[in-house]
Amino acid sequence: MIDLRSLHHSRGTPMEKVTIKQIRYDLTWQVRHEVMYPDFPFDHIKLENDREGLHFGLYLDHQLTSVVSLFREGNDYQFRKFATRAIAQGSGYGSSLLAHLINHVKEKGALRLWCNARVSAAGFYERFGLEKTGPVFINDEIDFVRMEIDCL
Ligand SMILES: CC(C)(COP(=O)(O)OP(=O)(O)OC[C@H]1O[C@@H](n2cnc3c(N)ncnc32)[C@H](O)[C@@H]1OP(=O)(O)O)[C@@H](O)C(=O)NCCC(=O)NCCS
Repeated sequence: MIDLRSLHHSRGTPMEKVTIKQIRYDLTWQVRHEVMYPDFPFDHIKLENDREGLHFGLYLDHQLTSVVSLFREGNDYQFRKFATRAIAQGSGYGSSLLAHLINHVKEKGALRLWCNARVSAAGFYERFGLEKTGPVFINDEIDFVRMEIDCL
């Protein structure tokens, strides 16, 4: 499992400035669409409760590169629509953003963080301690599985 304290951006070039911050919900849409559902109409990636969520963006210099959205349900938090621009995938940015998210919910006193993961991304989440807790299901012809981590 990844030690959150040891994460750093060692794979970027020395001049790159990486910043993670909360962003307005509509700023996630372009990255979501381009990365996750490019063949669907743009509106497909909008969530009905986007306005109620917290949205985090990782900027590489001034370019929004990775996004994730967080929704609270009591002491549980769900993250959705996690995406890194294709050109930047595999460079550690998603890991940095997920570590930031896990730290954020722990600071908020979360009991549990969960997601409906694309099965193709399950290995990535397992590195952070998330475990599969349900059967595989299919949506938009994509395989998903519920994954979660206890935060206490
Ligand atoms: C999943 C995703 C958000 C991860 O972001 P990222 O910026 O590529 O993540 P990282 O670069 O931090 O990946 C860290 C490590 O996990 C690995 N990894 C990335 N995706 C993986 C996957 N699907 N399964 C297993 N390992 C994966 C990377 O190779 C890297 O390994 P390394 O440290 O040994 O080099 C990104 O790949 C993505 O946007 N995928 C398409 C959309 C998607 O599937 N989103 C998730 C929906 S649930």
